Amino acid sequence: MTVRYFTTPIYYVNDVPHIGHAYTSLATDTLTRWYRLCGDEVRFQTGTDEHGLKIEQAARKTGISPKEHADRYSAPFRKLWDFLDVVPDKFIRTTDADHEAVVCDIWRRMEAQGDIYLGKYEGWYSVGDEAYFTEDELVDGKSPSGHEVSWVVEPSYFFRMSKYGDRLLEFLNTHPDFVRPASRQNEIVSFVKQGLQDISISRTTFSWGIPVPDADGHVIYVWVDALTNYISGLGGPGAELYNKFWPHVTHLIGKDIIRFHAVYWPCILMSAGLPLPEHIFAHGWWRHDGEKMSKTKGNVVDPWKIAGKYGPDVFRYFVLREVSFGADGDFSEKGLCGRINGDLANGYGNLFNRTLGMLARYRNGVVPNPGEDENAAELKQRIAEVQRELSQAMDELAFHKALAAIWSVIAVADKYVDSSAPWTLAKNEKTDATARQKLDAVLYNLCETLRILGVWTLAFLPRKAKALLDRLNVPEDLRNVASTLSFGAFKAGTTVQTEGEALFPRVEMPAETEATPAAPAAPAPAAKKAEKKAKKAEPEPPPAEIDFSDFAKLDLRVAKIIAAERHPDADRILKLTVDAGDPEPRTICSGIAEAYAPEDVVGRSVILVANLAPRKIRGIMSYGMLLCGGEGKTTTLATVPADLKPGTRVS
Ligand code: ME8
Ligand code: MG
Repeated sequence: MTVRYFTTPIYYVNDVPHIGHAYTSLATDTLTRWYRLCGDEVRFQTGTDEHGLKIEQAARKTGISPKEHADRYSAPFRKLWDFLDVVPDKFIRTTDADHEAVVCDIWRRMEAQGDIYLGKYEGWYSVGDEAYFTEDELVDGKSPSGHEVSWVVEPSYFFRMSKYGDRLLEFLNTHPDFVRPASRQNEIVSFVKQGLQDISISRTTFSWGIPVPDADGHVIYVWVDALTNYISGLGGPGAELYNKFWPHVTHLIGKDIIRFHAVYWPCILMSAGLPLPEHIFAHGWWRHDGEKMSKTKGNVVDPWKIAGKYGPDVFRYFVLREVSFGADGDFSEKGLCGRINGDLANGYGNLFNRTLGMLARYRNGVVPNPGEDENAAELKQRIAEVQRELSQAMDELAFHKALAAIWSVIAVADKYVDSSAPWTLAKNEKTDATARQKLDAVLYNLCETLRILGVWTLAFLPRKAKALLDRLNVPEDLRNVASTLSFGAFKAGTTVQTEGEALFPRVEMPAETEATPAAPAAPAPAAKKAEKKAKKAEPEPPPAEIDFSDFAKLDLRVAKIIAAERHPDADRILKLTVDAGDPEPRTICSGIAEAYAPEDVVGRSVILVANLAPRKIRGIMSYGMLLCGGEGKTTTLATVPADLKPGTRVS
């Protein structure tokens, strides 16, 4: 059995959690869930980083002890993880006594190697970063991240990190995927090539930290303390959990703290005589509506607010789908809503609704026998391919790729429904046994596809995927990745709960944020656009008069919409299947998607221009046109009373 250990950084208790912290934790939780679904033994650790001058000062300001301050700020992280369905096996705090004991053990190991010596530290120290900077690292007299610095001279213990440069370089050369993405490994290699300096690893100017063993007045530098959490959380060297999980670890971090993880930490471990981690993955940085987040700007994205409004699952889905893991991302509520309505409501949710609707209508909610359907070959093949793509994407931590692969199955399944035309099979099955068998096969294949999608998405949409599998009544032993390796594990005869809440309700797009300053004089392209708009606003002259004979050429008929979905390649268009009294239903592409959700129009009786020459609209043939009033969001379908049968002439 494969053993895996995933960690997030331990977050500072000087701030409340925001989207950045949530991101790392959600990604790590998703990996944990995924590999558990694959049958691996997985451990997931997160926690809080609670020592250091910054915390001591913040506590003093509010007149409480540093420990009280840490308690106060550590709790919201745990609560948020609970709310976001982030479920670590261990939440570590650097103020835990067993952690402190392991840090001292590591210190002694390093000391025993002759790697720690007493010296004097002088340099520009930034409390905000908990780090020293050299003169030329300062930017306008401040730390590179903009924090105040002061000149500090203090006696300090040093770690002989310079001793480990060559060994680290050798390790990097023989472990090309130690740091990922690869570009980050290159950065680290060039940094190490310049030679490593010894680093100061104790402080005497404050006391909120772990005391250096047998050295009065010194506390251990926070980064030595903090990095050690990854092994102290396993009980430290020699402990049972340590023996099992170390060093089969992937440290997930943001790109801000890569040097601590990819240089300091390996050197500390080498000095302590312990194996180095297997992987470090540094992801990118989130901005908000294109801007850097900061407390002073007040534009920090609060995961409580967003996940509270839209649900923890869709928040997780969005952050993992929106950017490729490793690259920077931009959060916008609009972007989130777009994905909810597009990928989730119209994609995944709609396939689920359609399938359960048909299963209820045609088979009383019971999963039929699989049977043969050569039309399903593409669907089955796609599923088999995605199975491989998915494993590979997850091994690369390419969440966005994994999700894109899963969604490609949804698209093929939608196509399968349309090309199988179950409504026609249902019409014919009373007199045609082949049609009956084929309808069985179509419905079975769709249910099995949904089961597989449900299993695959358990890691990405934990609640929603569970709800989907519950509705399908999928037994526990068919809720793992192994059960999706071959198509057809779902048991015929299973009764499905066809009635229930929509899996992914559509959401209202957020209103444009106002307070946008008046636009300056429009530059050329914008001006052109405005001009075009102005022209459009002018009333158009009415069309020229026509003869009755011209009018009589129109084949206007009542049609009933029997199925609807988003056009895969055009946001404004719904792809409708209508019964217009013809022997076969027809496909109509209609520009009403901004005003109607697919589920809003199914069942409506409308007016069809039935003899309009067929036209390909963004790759899909459309056989006619529906009468509507208005444009865009204000479009209204011209409807007729339901007692007018499909095919009835309108004149
Ligand atoms: O650095 N975008 O803690 P920290 C993406 N205690 N990720 C972000 C982010 C953003 N805008 N902002 C924060 C520390 N993060 C140390 C770590 S580990 C031994 C000690 C995430 O509270 C990202 O994972 O400043 C980043 O690395 C981490 O929060 C920094 O958290
Ligand atoms: Mg930070």
